[in-house]
Formats: sequence, C-alpha cells, structure tokens
Amino acid sequence: MDKLVIDGGKPLNGSIKVSGAKNAALPILIATLLTDEPCVIENVPSTLRDLRTTFRLLESLGKKVVVDGSTVKVLSTGSLKTQAPYEIVKQMRASVLAAGPLLARFGLVRVPIPGGCAIGLRPIDIHLKGFETMGARRIADQGDIIMSAPRLKATTIKLRFPSVGATQNLMMAAAATPGKTTIKNAAREPEMEDLGVFLSRLGAKVHGVGTATVTVEGQSKLHGATHRVIPDRIEAGTFLLACAAARGRVKLLGAEAAHLTDLIGALKKAGAKIKSGKGWIELSMDRRPKAVSVVTKPHPGFPTDLQAPWMALMTLCTGFAKVTETVFENRFLHAAELGRMGAQIAVSGRAAVVAGQESLSGAPIMASDIRAGAALLVAGLAAKGRTTIQRVYHIDRGYEFVEKKLAGAGARLERQK
Ligand code: UD1
Repeated sequence: MDKLVIDGGKPLNGSIKVSGAKNAALPILIATLLTDEPCVIENVPSTLRDLRTTFRLLESLGKKVVVDGSTVKVLSTGSLKTQAPYEIVKQMRASVLAAGPLLARFGLVRVPIPGGCAIGLRPIDIHLKGFETMGARRIADQGDIIMSAPRLKATTIKLRFPSVGATQNLMMAAAATPGKTTIKNAAREPEMEDLGVFLSRLGAKVHGVGTATVTVEGQSKLHGATHRVIPDRIEAGTFLLACAAARGRVKLLGAEAAHLTDLIGALKKAGAKIKSGKGWIELSMDRRPKAVSVVTKPHPGFPTDLQAPWMALMTLCTGFAKVTETVFENRFLHAAELGRMGAQIAVSGRAAVVAGQESLSGAPIMASDIRAGAALLVAGLAAKGRTTIQRVYHIDRGYEFVEKKLAGAGARLERQK
C-alpha cells in the first residue's frame, strides 16, 4: 500500500490548479442514467478512485463510458439494468444515487443498503421516505432494498434533514417524473446547483436550487447534454488550510471563492490574508493562526468536509479553539493521529477543544477516511521533520495528483509504493 512521506515545516509558495468537484461529478455522471442519448461531462477528476467506481457502476448498469483526460462521454449500449451490484455499492455509498433515475424511468430498482462507514452510520431513510412519498413501495430482501412504482407521481416532499444525497436522488427521480415535484428543506450545497443545471440541460425545469425549496418539473423523455463540472471547493479549501498551516503564499487557479464563504471568513479571522477574483483565490499567512471556533452545518454553514483539516490548522493556534461537528456522529478520528504529532485535543461527544501549540512534530500516522487524511496532510506539511502517512488510498478518493500539485507549490513530499 502507498505511503506519503512529507518533509514538513517549509512554507508553500506558488500556484495550484483545482480539479473539478468530485461531489458534483458523481451525481451528474449518475444522472446520465436519465437519458439514452449521449452526454459529455467535462472537468471530471477522472483519476480519483470514486470516479473510477462511478464509471464501473454506470457500465454495470449498461452504459458505455469513454474517458479522455477530464472529459467523460457516457453512451447508451441498449437497455439499462435496474440492479446495482453490491460489489460497487460497498466501495462507494454514492452508488445509491442510481436509485432515483432508475426507479423513475423503469418503475423498479434494486440496490444493496450501503453499510455505515468510519464517520457514522449513514442511513438512507430520507432517500427512501422521499421515494415512498412519490408513490414507491419498498421491500427489503437479503440486504437489498427493492423499490417499485409503476409510475412515480410528482408531489411535495419535506425532508427531515437537508441530506445532500437524498436531495440529489429525489431531484433526479423528479426530473424523469412528469409534473411538478417540490422538495422542501432541500440541501443547498453548490454541488446541488450544478446538478440542477445539468438536469435543466437534459430537459427538466429546475427552480430554487441553492435555496431550501427546490422544484423540478419532470419530463417523460430527457435528452443528452454537455456540461462542465464546477471546481472542487473541498479540495480548494484543503489547500488553503495547508498554506495557512505551513505558511507562505498560494494562488489557487480555477477555484470559486463564492462556494467557500464560511471557510474564507474563518481563515481571515485566524489572520490569513485572502484575495480572490474570477476563478482564483490567493491566501498568504506569515504567523501562527489565531484561535477560531467553528461549528459544522449544512451549506451555507461551515462544511463538515473541512472540519478535520480546520482542526489540523487549529492545532497551531494561539489559544483554544472549539470544533463542533453536527453533521456526522463520529468524525473526530483524526484527533488521535494529530495527537501523535504533538497536538493537544480533548474530544467529548460531538465537540473537540484544541489547545494550540507552537509547532507540531513529524510522525508516522494513518488516514482513517478521506477528510481525516486531508487533515493529516495539512498537519504533515506544517510539522517540523518527517511525517509518513499510511493508508493514502483514503486521500486518493478525493484529491487527484495530490503530491504533484503540492510539490508544485514547493512542498517536499513523495509517494512511496
Ligand atoms: C455528501 C458528501 C459528503 C459530505 C456530506 C455532508 C458526496 C458524494 N458526499 O454525503 O462528502 O460530507 O454530503 O455535506 O456528495 N442522513 C440520514 N438519513 C439519510 C441521509 C443522510 O440520517 O437518508 C444523515 C447522515 O447519516 C449524516 C447526515 O445526514 O449524518 C448528512 O448526510 P448527507 O447530507 O446525506 O451526506 P451524503 O450525501 O452521504
């Protein structure tokens, strides 16, 4: 298994190109199941493990996927299957997003129930309840959920929590269901807006994405489309935090500051200087960060996916910072690994208090999930001495060419096989 070896404590200086958003590309690629016509999706971070898994999912359901760099063509090969293989769903929970398009188009879908993961139980009850509100019947069979509905009906669905995945699944189902579906308490993440734009290009009429009430006027037949995926705000945020922790000046190219308002506000409070323009964000930092407490919330709140890398920055703050996680129930696995580098963190339930230190020291550490891995990367770049991160495959799920991109900004790190 690969390791990342970082010789840290060196400021970052240079520019880094941000890739297309993984979490926008996944639902958009899955939404190609809504049409038999060809779709072309650009700016896809196609080397990421989760993207590879998505291509396999689409192929297992009957699509042909042609990848050319960051451009992905999805073509029809005949009729689609309505059963997602367990082999794929267990590798990537987002595979359940195939349920919405398939159920709406074919009146039947069978998907394995994804298990929990390191950061929480992650049930899919909100997705399923939404389909039931649209008229589907649900049967459980041997670890799978079978949903059937001769024809879904357009209606109003109120989510008990603004789940990202459930909102996407229901928007896709609604796009292929004639009539007007209204989703209340919908997730408002920028990735939702990108999916909304894509569904409009396929021929659905989508309004209100980015607000808590989304309406989708579906069509019985949708057509093909070309679409360019938005930049990855979580990758961008991770690089901003890496530079804030290691110090220096980094310009992110292809990044969108409007998608990172809460993080940028917190970074400014911590003492970073940030400038941004159309398609770029520049951060410079020449001192230890001030302590800034954050509480994760659904968008537009502080993103849970940046909680771990934020905590890594706060290990170096001048004072005490509280980090509260309200979205996932077990998302502090990185705290113990950061402790191995000299961080002082006390975790109690969903809150952690970080007592900032003058510096961290390099150590052998292990990533437990994708964003915990990002936190270790941030800490390793800032720490004095050598850090070896094991289980890099977690980082590889969300950060493409990570060592190359960071090395381009002066970081000293290499991958060892
Ligand atoms: C997506 C993102 C992930 C991010 C998360 C929250 C993708 C591929 N992944 O995950 O990176 O961390 O949004 O911003 O886009 N929940 C339920 N029942 C449900 C659905 C969710 O209880 O039916 C709970 C989850 O267990 C979790 C919380 O709601 O505690 C948030 O989950 P959700 O917004 O659905 O996240 P994902 O779509 O899985």
